[in-house]
Amino acid sequence: MAKRIAILTGGGDCPGLNPAIRGVVLRAAQEGIECLGLRRGWLGAINADAIALTPNDVAEIVGKGGTMLGSSRTNPFKREGGAEAVLETFKKLNLDALVACGGEDTLGVAARLYEEHGANIVGVPKTMDNDLSATDYTFGLDTATTHAVEALERLRDTGRSHGRVMVLEVMGRLAGWVSLFAGIAGPADYACLPERTVDVADMVAKVKAAHALRGTALVVASEAIQLPGEGGGEKELDEFGHEILKDRGVADRLTAVLKKHTNLEIRSAVIGHIQRGGPPTLFDRILATRVGVKAAELVISGDFGKMVALKGNSVVPVSLKEATATLKTVTPEWLELLDTVTALQKKPAAD
Ligand code: F6P
Repeated sequence: MAKRIAILTGGGDCPGLNPAIRGVVLRAAQEGIECLGLRRGWLGAINADAIALTPNDVAEIVGKGGTMLGSSRTNPFKREGGAEAVLETFKKLNLDALVACGGEDTLGVAARLYEEHGANIVGVPKTMDNDLSATDYTFGLDTATTHAVEALERLRDTGRSHGRVMVLEVMGRLAGWVSLFAGIAGPADYACLPERTVDVADMVAKVKAAHALRGTALVVASEAIQLPGEGGGEKELDEFGHEILKDRGVADRLTAVLKKHTNLEIRSAVIGHIQRGGPPTLFDRILATRVGVKAAELVISGDFGKMVALKGNSVVPVSLKEATATLKTVTPEWLELLDTVTALQKKPAAD
């Protein structure tokens, strides 16, 4: 059985990483396994940059946002000798296994290190984007979307006071889960998702109707949406070849479109990284704890090359390779639900 293992957190941080770390450390400690933390994701794995992680170190982190280990978007396979350096770190630190907490990118590296080099790795899914296909939900989404919902509620108050339309831009990369759930739960009068091109006529009709009925209208939009006629242009890419979506100006672009088609006063807000900070919600604390504990159990049983997935109400192992093969985007069933709750509302006919 493993005697010494390491944990790392890679990619964009999200609330729930600390409870997940705690889960791994406390379950490992029950079996007498020592834990180290690698700092700043795969960068720490390349540089053997490690700290000790005792049960005492993690005793009070369950309610803290971010990650006590730090994070980065480092891709060892994009750096000369990077993958070999990670394998060397296993030897240098005398590691029997590694638990990698991350999204598609971090776990994609984990999958390759397992498949191509036989490294003893287990994955823990995290991301506020909820875009990992093998798991029903990732921790981080609930907290981030709760913040987006709160932002909509605040925008509604000020929007109504001034009779304005309010536009909120949220993160989520190429999957529209944050926009979808904020749109349903906010609620917004219109939600724009990357999964479908914005139907300007539909959006304008709903915004006008909501404003006429209730004195304000709310639109939530994912950072990655395309507006009709848009596309192309220079893209800044990260080490994983993904477009860095910051500064795309979605809120402003959408505001311009709405201004063109209405006579209404419009203001916009970008919630940005505020979504990703702060204490994890109860749901995220519990899910993160469960997947962290389960990851330690996979290490204990030597079940490597797996990611812990939430399926229904169970946490189960799935292959890391499969888990990182496709992106989970919003399905037509969810879009139908969104359309039901944002359906065009009309003034009741006068008697
Ligand atoms: O992947 C998580 C995420 O928050 C995305 O929703 C967003 O596009 C991106 O990270 C922002 O990345 P960064 O923190 O590097 O600006």
